[in-house]
Amino acid sequence: MAPQFEEMQNDLLLRTARGERVERPPMWVMRQAGRYLPEYHEAKGGHDFFECCRSPEIASTLTLQPIERFAGLIDAAIIFSDILVIPQAMGMEVIMVDKKGPHFPEPLESPDDKQYKEVMERKVDVKESLDYVYKAITLTRQKLRGRVPLIGFCGAPWTLLSYMVEGGGSKMFIQVKTWVFRYPKESQALLQKIAELCVEYLALQVVAGAQMIQVFDSWAGELSPASFKTFSLPYLNYIADHLPARLKELGQEPVPMTVFAKGAWYALEDLCESNYNVIGLDWLQDPAAAYKIAQAKGKVLQGNADPGVLYGGREAITSVVKQMVTGFGGGKQGWIANLGHGITPFVKPEDLKFFFEEIHKYAGSS
Ligand code: CP3
Repeated sequence: MAPQFEEMQNDLLLRTARGERVERPPMWVMRQAGRYLPEYHEAKGGHDFFECCRSPEIASTLTLQPIERFAGLIDAAIIFSDILVIPQAMGMEVIMVDKKGPHFPEPLESPDDKQYKEVMERKVDVKESLDYVYKAITLTRQKLRGRVPLIGFCGAPWTLLSYMVEGGGSKMFIQVKTWVFRYPKESQALLQKIAELCVEYLALQVVAGAQMIQVFDSWAGELSPASFKTFSLPYLNYIADHLPARLKELGQEPVPMTVFAKGAWYALEDLCESNYNVIGLDWLQDPAAAYKIAQAKGKVLQGNADPGVLYGGREAITSVVKQMVTGFGGGKQGWIANLGHGITPFVKPEDLKFFFEEIHKYAGSS
C-alpha cells in the first residue's frame, strides 16, 4: 500500500505548477542540497557520494538541510540523489571522483561492441535496483511533515546517453556525437530504452511520495535545433506522454511535471507544446520574451537567474531579481522562482538567503 503522509502546510509550488493564481511565486534552487552548505560536508562526513544516495537516512538528512536553513523562505525540497542512478541500474559502473565529477570506468564503446548488446538486452528492474531511492523519498516525506512538497527527478535520455558514452562530463562530446550521427538507429533504440526506464522510475518515485517530478536534460544545448528534435525531444515527450497513464495504472493521481532542457533556448515553443506543465529556463532566456510565449500556451516557467550572480553581492542579486519579477509578469501566476542551473560551490548561503528575501520583497506584495 502507498505510504500515508501528513497534510501539506505549504502547497504553493503545486498550485503554481497547475497554473493557478497565487499570492507569491514559490521558490527553490536546483542543487540546493550541496557543497555550498557547510552542513552538507558535515553530514556527508567520510561517505562516498553514491553511498549517501543509497542511505535513506543520509539522503533524507541532506534533502532537509536547505529546508531547515531557509525555513519560511523555501517552498520545495528535491530528493538528494543523482541522474546517474539509471545507468547504474542498467548495469554500468559509475563512481564520483572528488572535485572532478562522475566517471564511468567502462563507457559504451560502439554499437558493434558486445557491451551495447548486453545493455540493450538486459532486463532492468528499476523497482528493485533503485529501491533505496523510493525508501529515501518515503522517509524524507515523513521527516518533512508537510512543510513543503518533495520533488523527484531523473535525467533525460539524451543527457544519460551522453554520460554513458562519454564516460563522464565532456567539453567536445566527440563520442556521443559519433554515436548519434554515425549510428542513429542504434542510438535511438537506446534512447527509447532509457525513456521507458525513466517512466517507470518516476512513477515509482511518485508511489513512494514524490509530489512533482523534474526531468533534467543538462546537455540539451549541445544539440542543434534539428538534432534536438531527433535525439532529445521525442524522448522527453515520451516520458511526459506516458507517465500519467502509468500513474493511473498504479492507482496514483497525476503529478505536475517539469522539463529542464539546458541550453535549448530554440526549443521553448516545442516544449510549450508538450505535456509538461512547467518549462525550466536557463539564463540564456529573456524572462519577458519567454513569459509571453509560455502564457500563450498555458505553461508555467521556472528559473532563471544566472547562478553566477550569487557571487556578485547584494546589488547584483537585487538587480536580477527585479528583472525576473518584472519579466515573469509580477510573480502571481506562471512562475516558479529558481536559478537557471544548479547553485555552484563557494556561494555564501547568506547570499542565497538574500536572493530568496528579495524575491519575497519584490514579488510578495499585492
Ligand atoms: O538539486 C538537489 O539539491 C538534489 C540533488 C541533485 C544532485 N544531482 C546532487 C549532487 C540533483 C537534482 C542532481 C542532478 C544531476 N546530477 C544532474 C542534472 C542537473 C545539472 O546540474 O545539470 C547532473 C548533470 C548530474 C551528474 C553529476 N552529479 C555531476 C556532473 C556531478 C559533479 C559536478 C557537480 O556539479 O558537482 C554530480 C555530483 C553531485 N550531484 C553533487 C551533488 C550534491 C556533488 C557531489 C559532491 O562532490 O559532494
